[in-house]
Amino acid sequence: MKVNNVSMNLSAVSSAQYPDDGYPEIALAGRSNVGKSSLINTLINRNAFARTSSKPGKTQTLNFYNIEDQLYLVDVPGYGYAKVSKKQREEFGVMIEEYLTTRKPLKGVIILVDGRHEPSEDDISMYEFVRYYNIPVLIVATKMDKVKGNQWNKSESIIRKTLEIDDQTDFQIFSSETKYGKDEVWKWIEEHM
Ligand code: GTP
Ligand code: MG
Repeated sequence: MKVNNVSMNLSAVSSAQYPDDGYPEIALAGRSNVGKSSLINTLINRNAFARTSSKPGKTQTLNFYNIEDQLYLVDVPGYGYAKVSKKQREEFGVMIEEYLTTRKPLKGVIILVDGRHEPSEDDISMYEFVRYYNIPVLIVATKMDKVKGNQWNKSESIIRKTLEIDDQTDFQIFSSETKYGKDEVWKWIEEHM
């Protein structure tokens, strides 16, 4: 998609605050600090539209980015961030679950995993959860600029095996540094919106 106009329309912590204009939504989920906000910035050709941080836990609300009045990209708070209180973690969980399980305009979820490591228990749970609700998934292995090209196949097979990726799930290598995989991620979004 050619993106000229993007606005962050709103931040939500519960369903009453979700947008109501009916555009399809694609959500970005993944561990805190994995690069969700960076992926959004890459997709919309901006450096710092979605706030990023080297400190985990930057994104704390569901942030709806209006793309060309055609689509919302939804930045979901990262899971597995140990430094928030148990109560706050539970509240995050409820917020994310409510969104993923009840949201009609939600057409697909991009789950980001760190391409350098084996997916965590949290990654596995998130993937199983989204598949259980039959939501189409694209697994994106990110930070792949940090992995040597001759190790990419190995990273991919570890991720596929650990998550037990099924036939209805797509997979893409990605880097927000080099923009590798950007067109393929856009293609997946356009096929699912
Ligand atoms: P939360 O909002 O805390 O859930 O994090 P997030 O998933 O939105 O991560 P964010 O995009 O803020 O990125 C976290 C850190 O990783 C930042 O320092 C980014 O610059 C860095 N980062 C993100 N993507 C990449 C990538 O593809 N390659 C490299 N080398 N660094 C990346
Ligand atoms: Mg973020």
